[in-house]
Amino acid sequence: MRAVIFGASGLLGRSVMRAFNDMTVTGTGFSRTAPGLARADATSADDIDRLLGRAQPDVVVNCVGERRPQRWAATPDQARDKNVDAARLLAQSTRQCGARLLHISTDYVFDGKAAPYRPDSPPNPLNAYGRWKLLAEHAVRAACPDAAILRLPVLYGPAQFAAETNLTELARQVGARAPVELDDVCVRYPTHTDEAAEVCRWLAGALVRGQRLGAVAHWSAEQGFTKYQMAVLIADRFGLPAGHIRPGEADAVSGDRPIDCRLDCRDLPEALGTVRRHFTTEFPPVVEPWLLPAEPISTLRKDFHAPCV
Ligand SMILES: NC(=O)c1ccc[n+]([C@@H]2O[C@H](COP(=O)([O-])OP(=O)(O)OC[C@H]3O[C@@H](n4cnc5c(N)ncnc54)[C@H](OP(=O)(O)O)[C@@H]3O)[C@@H](O)[C@H]2O)c1
Repeated sequence: MRAVIFGASGLLGRSVMRAFNDMTVTGTGFSRTAPGLARADATSADDIDRLLGRAQPDVVVNCVGERRPQRWAATPDQARDKNVDAARLLAQSTRQCGARLLHISTDYVFDGKAAPYRPDSPPNPLNAYGRWKLLAEHAVRAACPDAAILRLPVLYGPAQFAAETNLTELARQVGARAPVELDDVCVRYPTHTDEAAEVCRWLAGALVRGQRLGAVAHWSAEQGFTKYQMAVLIADRFGLPAGHIRPGEADAVSGDRPIDCRLDCRDLPEALGTVRRHFTTEFPPVVEPWLLPAEPISTLRKDFHAPCV
């Protein structure tokens, strides 16, 4: 199988590259380059056509997007281009070259007031990112009707910089020991990028085999946590003080962050349950490099028991 992964330099794309490593795979970066990645601008039809013409893929995975709130606020036009225009152009080119498309979307298309959400639950995004991602879904559907759209919740995994994931940013705040208030109302379902990438792999295979799939699929980890709960868990696991972390409700009262977008994943096959990773066992190696203690962290607490949340 020949695959092209757009956004392969990003958080999810790096895991997807690893999960597809037994295929003939071309990955793209944009501002970040790495050995083996091609540079392509997903907002340029010429760039996309050139790359797909060269790679002749069976399947294209679109991991391009702009999900950082600071960027939506600072450069909304660029963020919209990356989320919506890129999705439309990629869908058009993928269809023209006869490949199948897997497009990545988000649980933020929902308002968080009526979880769990099935793939056909009515979307109602609360913020610009969610609205753009919903517009992107519509654009993908219009340009490439047989594409699969995979909605995912907040992701965590090996990060290149602390702010790359919510979780590693929380780790930095735990380690920094400066007073901080963290939302303790909105529930998130942090899902490991490698787990999401395995689901992408399964979906890509199913698309290429011509297996009938619903237009939209959901995948999510099962454990839900607020940011405050995650921070306390991190502190507890590494035996760090947590007195500087206070529970708050900033996200909930902002009005643009959904309270609980739990995704109902039952439409994907039960066999995929084997790719599940449990947050409480998977998060320590991901956060450890970002705790920024004065001295190295010696050992994990052996008496640590994750609370059931
Ligand atoms: N991270 C999450 O918590 C999360 C949750 C749910 C859904 N998602 C969705 O999952 C997808 C991947 O997210 P992510 O977290 O991996 O994002 P990310 O880490 O920010 O990566 C975004 C990728 O898009 C590339 N890109 C940006 N502008 C581009 C352009 N003009 N042309 C081509 N490529 C461009 C970036 O390349 P450079 O970095 O090289 O510029 C990078 O490879 C997105 O659709 C996102 O909405 C993410």
